[in-house]
Amino acid sequence: MVAYDDTTDPFPVTGWDAVVWVVGNATQAAHYYQSAYGMELVAYSGPETGNRDHHAYVLRSGAIRFVLKGAVDPASPLVDTHRRHGDGITDIALEVPDVDRCIAHARSEGATIVEEPHDVTDEHGTVRLAAIAAYGETVHTLVDRSQYRGPYLPGYVERTSSHTKRPGAPKRVFQALDHVVGNVELGKMDEWVAFYNRVMGFTNMAEFVGDDIATEYSALMSKVVASGNHRVKFPLNEPAAGKKKSQIDEYLEFYQGPGAQHLALATNDILASVDALRAEGVEFLATPDSYYEDPELRARIGEVRVPISELQKRGILVDRDEDGYLLQIFTKPVGDRPTVFFELIERHGSLGFGKGNFQALFEAIEREQARRGNF
Ligand SMILES: [Fe+2]
Repeated sequence: MVAYDDTTDPFPVTGWDAVVWVVGNATQAAHYYQSAYGMELVAYSGPETGNRDHHAYVLRSGAIRFVLKGAVDPASPLVDTHRRHGDGITDIALEVPDVDRCIAHARSEGATIVEEPHDVTDEHGTVRLAAIAAYGETVHTLVDRSQYRGPYLPGYVERTSSHTKRPGAPKRVFQALDHVVGNVELGKMDEWVAFYNRVMGFTNMAEFVGDDIATEYSALMSKVVASGNHRVKFPLNEPAAGKKKSQIDEYLEFYQGPGAQHLALATNDILASVDALRAEGVEFLATPDSYYEDPELRARIGEVRVPISELQKRGILVDRDEDGYLLQIFTKPVGDRPTVFFELIERHGSLGFGKGNFQALFEAIEREQARRGNF
C-alpha cells in the first residue's frame, strides 16, 4: 500500500472484485480451478436458479474471486463471445466505494459506459453496479457491495462442492491477485496508458519495457498503470517489430483482438504452490539451466530465501531491483488457444514485474511457439 488519499482521487478503487471468464465448459472449468488451483466453490447461477442462459460458478482463493460462465442456451450471446475469443477474461471487475462518482468522471473523460449505474437487490441486500469499456471487448464492472452480504451478487445462490483437497496440499495455492496484464494492438499501448490515467485516475509505475529488451525475433513494449492505492495493477503490452511473429501478435491473432493476457496470482510460498500445481498436471514454461548457471545472472539475483537449486528444479525465475526481489513462474496457456495464462508470484519487497526476466522468458516462450508452428 502507498500513502493515498481517496478524497482527491477522481476514481477511487478499493481493489479487485472479480475476474469474470467466459469458457467453453464452465462446469468442467469449475472442477479444474478447484482440483488444480485449490479454489473453493462459493456461489452459482444457472437453470436451477432461474438463469436459463448460462452456468456461472463463483470460486474463491483468499482475497480473489473467479466467475466462470459457460452457455447453456445455444442462442446465448456467450456462445458468440466464446467463438471469437476462446476461453478468456471478459470482465476485470473492480470494487469501488462510489460507483456514481466513478462513472461521472469516466463519462466526463469520454469513456464508453457499457452499463449505467443501477441497483440490484435480493434478500441479502443491495449492490450498486455499472460498467465501462476497456481494451478490446474487455469491460470493467464497478461494484459497490458495501450494502450486500450475499455470496456474490443477487441472482446467485450459495454453493459448495464435495471436492476435497489432497492430503498435504497447501491451504491455498494463491492468496490474492497481484496484477492483470492486457495485450493491446501495435501502437496502442500509450493510448491505453492514457485511458487509465485520464478515465480511471491510475498513475504510471516505474517499470517500463522498451523494444530494446527482446529477443531477436520477439519484441514487446510494456508500461504499467496502477490504482491510487496500488492494489490494482495493469501492465499493458503492445507488440514491437521483430523478425518473426511476437508472442503478443500470436495472442492478438488467436484472441481476435486485445484482451487480458495473464493473471499474476500472489503466493507466499511459490515452491509449495508450484509443487501442488505440478502434482495436478499444470504445465509451466521451462527455464533453461543456463538461466541459473550464468554468473552475471547469479550475481544480479543475489541472496534469496531458498537455495537456487530449489528454484532451478522448478524453473522459478528471480528478479531483483532496489526495493527487493521477486520469484515468479509462468504457466502454459490454460485453454485451447495460445492466449491467456497464469503467473505465480512471490514478492519480497520488489514492486516490479520481472523485467529482468523478459529475455530468459521470451526465449522459453518462443520455444513453445515454435512447437505450435506459430513462429
Ligand atoms: Fe506478470
